[in-house]
Amino acid sequence: MNLNHFFFEACAQVAAKHQIKTYVVGGWVRDQLLNRPSKDIDIVVEGNGMDFAQKVAQEIDTNIQVNFFKTFGTAQFNYKDYDYEFVGARKESYDHNSRKPVVENGTIQEDIARRDFTINALAISLNEADYGQIIDFHQGLAHLKEKRLVTPLDPNQTYSDDPLRMLRAIRFANQLEFKIEDESFKSIQNNANRIQIISQERIHTELNKILMCAKPSIGLDLLYKSKLMIHFLPELTWLHGVEEYKGKGHKDNFYHTLQVVDNIASMTDNLWLRWAALLHDIAKPQTKSYSEANGWSFHGHEVLGPKMAHKIFKNLKLPLDKPLEYVKKLIYLHLRPISLTKEIVTDSAVRRMVYEAGNDIDDLLILCRADITSKNEAKVSRYIQNLDALKIKIEEIEARDHIKNFQPPISGDVIIKTFQLKPGPEVGLIKNKIKDAILDGEIANEYQAAFDFMMRMRGL
Ligand code: CTP
Repeated sequence: MNLNHFFFEACAQVAAKHQIKTYVVGGWVRDQLLNRPSKDIDIVVEGNGMDFAQKVAQEIDTNIQVNFFKTFGTAQFNYKDYDYEFVGARKESYDHNSRKPVVENGTIQEDIARRDFTINALAISLNEADYGQIIDFHQGLAHLKEKRLVTPLDPNQTYSDDPLRMLRAIRFANQLEFKIEDESFKSIQNNANRIQIISQERIHTELNKILMCAKPSIGLDLLYKSKLMIHFLPELTWLHGVEEYKGKGHKDNFYHTLQVVDNIASMTDNLWLRWAALLHDIAKPQTKSYSEANGWSFHGHEVLGPKMAHKIFKNLKLPLDKPLEYVKKLIYLHLRPISLTKEIVTDSAVRRMVYEAGNDIDDLLILCRADITSKNEAKVSRYIQNLDALKIKIEEIEARDHIKNFQPPISGDVIIKTFQLKPGPEVGLIKNKIKDAILDGEIANEYQAAFDFMMRMRGL
């Protein structure tokens, strides 16, 4: 383990001078052993964590600003890209109805036992007597090797102490590709409703981390099977299952969605594009119908979907400004590219799509590509070829007509002055007609053509 770092040296000096038992614990130790980069370092001392943090900061650089969180007895500072956190060892028990810990001072062994997983319960000594030695009270090293997520105590106790850990279990299982112990998973299923005491912000933070995994379907499926998902994203669970009528079933939209999310995860690191993939078919259960002629259909799910996305973002306290607008737009448009490849399309239909998607047109095409999940390879390759052809067409049209960042070539002011109008709806109507004429290819996207068109329109 590489402890050749000014920070650990400073901790060791303060520890020796003041005779305070000091340890690095948690995620940083785990990540070092797994060769994963980490810039968050947690220190536990048998004593006062806040005093210790102040002394270490003084030792490193007197300009460091230490932040103290007195209610929790913790301290933190940032220095050269790293985040350092300090806490006094504690034996904790939690109030059953909240995550508020009832804290008493304790030893490193007691502190470690109250942590979430054995792989996060490893510590390294920074004390003179055994500097650099790994402290492993709960077989964390073995579990790291075996890729197992095990709780140090009875899982019912660990999850009940802090129900957020149920989500963390699934997130780690996904991120690290570790297996949650059967007993532990059963405990999550039994305690799932306790996730309700966790704030939506903490829930969405974990959900976002799952979505940012290489294969988010692992975590999403575990969220479903653990019965956690129904408490914070019930709409997604409603996609699960297949209904049959007269022997004809539709596809399971939950597993289709998971496949689309995995597909998109291999194409982009854009979290909100991954969210759009997660919610693109969210309104299918509500719009489902069956007819003899067409079989199963989901008419209008792209219209209801954005409304549901709004509610979901609001409930989960996700940002309601640009990210939500973007996700809603992509859901609304997600059927458009494929429908444009099905028929012989006019340039004007393509122009309208580019106008509506604007700068997000490439992301829309990515979503559309990810949405192709048929098992029929010939069908898949035909769809992909069609999308490629559409992409080329979009590029040609864009180069010629500049629709992506469409700015009306005639401003409202010009319209008002030319026809001596008062500002009002009529100005908007004229502007719209000019826009439609450009999108329909009747006139070029330029001032003079638009001006002449406007005059013609008014019989001038
Ligand atoms: N921890 C815990 N229970 C929690 C959160 C954290 O027991 N609900 C403990 C674990 O020992 C964890 C350490 O506190 O390793 C630090 O927590 P945090 O920084 O949130 O997580 P990391 O394990 O470092 O992982 P990540 O940064 O990926 O969340």
